[in-house]
Amino acid sequence: MSAFKVEPILRSLHAKFGPMVTLRMGTRTAIFVADRTLAHEALIQSSAVYADRPPAAATRKIISSNQHVIGYCSYGPTWRLLRRNLTAEILHPSRVKSYTHARNWVLQILQNRFESQAKAGRPICSMEHFQHAMFCLLVLMCFGDKLDEDQIKRIKEVQRQMIVNFHDVLIPLIRARKKAKEERVNKSKEDKKDYEDEYVLSYVDTLLALELPEEKRKLTEEEMVSLCSEFLDAGTDTTSTALQWIMANLVKYPQIQEKLFVEIKGVVQDGEERIKEEELQKMPYLKAIILEGLRRHPPAHFVLPHAVTEDVILGKYAVPKDATINFMVAEMGWDPKV
Ligand code: HEM
Repeated sequence: MSAFKVEPILRSLHAKFGPMVTLRMGTRTAIFVADRTLAHEALIQSSAVYADRPPAAATRKIISSNQHVIGYCSYGPTWRLLRRNLTAEILHPSRVKSYTHARNWVLQILQNRFESQAKAGRPICSMEHFQHAMFCLLVLMCFGDKLDEDQIKRIKEVQRQMIVNFHDVLIPLIRARKKAKEERVNKSKEDKKDYEDEYVLSYVDTLLALELPEEKRKLTEEEMVSLCSEFLDAGTDTTSTALQWIMANLVKYPQIQEKLFVEIKGVVQDGEERIKEEELQKMPYLKAIILEGLRRHPPAHFVLPHAVTEDVILGKYAVPKDATINFMVAEMGWDPKV
């Protein structure tokens, strides 16, 4: 059942039975938490206890290389290593800075697409273009090279089909990156300098360097494929959905759009066509628009399903170890009381 269908049912169950509701879903016990204080207690105050994930269903097990991806990994040293690798090596602000050229590249792709549609007199379907631009950006961050349109299209196709042909397309990209890394080590000092100037660390580079702490081994190619797929998947629809809603609201509320224009005019440098990335820090109104967009239209209405590492009590309710626990974060953000 989709979130849109289950949410109204849960709303009425919560109104009748209180902030925590348990449903039997097939063989699973699924708990739904609607109260922000309970969510804070679980996810912030006792985060380690609530950081586990329920066992994955059979198909998910295959796609995730037996739960060797961040979002479906059990709580423990492997999850910590994979998560720290992503947050510290790729998504950390200092690293994000090194992808400026990649963002400029996709911004140009986005602009070209909008302009060519406008010239052809066709209505612009922004979502499709946001998705494409985000996908191009993440592919570059993942594999380190600018791939051509055909290669990107192929990755997008296999990503949709999930398992079919997936490895055939991604493994050669991982191997190419591995080879480039080895060649880099063997370069002369002079060559190395030029090369290093252009070299931007990719997600695959960081994965190649990892060693799993419990199993004392490197990641297999299959596990790397699953992690790359998670990276592309988790970052594309979330960001493009958020962008689409933000743009729709700017159209719906012209007075907000006007205020944003005033802020843009205040920071854009004379003679410059675009805002420089560092100027974004001076744009509190833009930041407020983004945060409000995420609050009103969160791309995910629940966080991913969590599980507890031991039987616990949350508020006055029992949470058994084998239950799936879901937090209704969209509802919490819409609560008129806060
Ligand atoms: C507007 C953009 C985004 C939104 C709204 C969003 C939302 C979320 C949510 C709700 C979760 C579940 C957290 C939980 O279960 O506790 C999550 C997890 C995750 N997201 Fe995002 N996300 C966004 C962008 C991204 C991007 C750009 C990436 C990577 C390129 C990413 C990678 C991940 C990963 C790997 C996880 C699993 C984390 C874990 O289990 O520890 N997300 N995201």
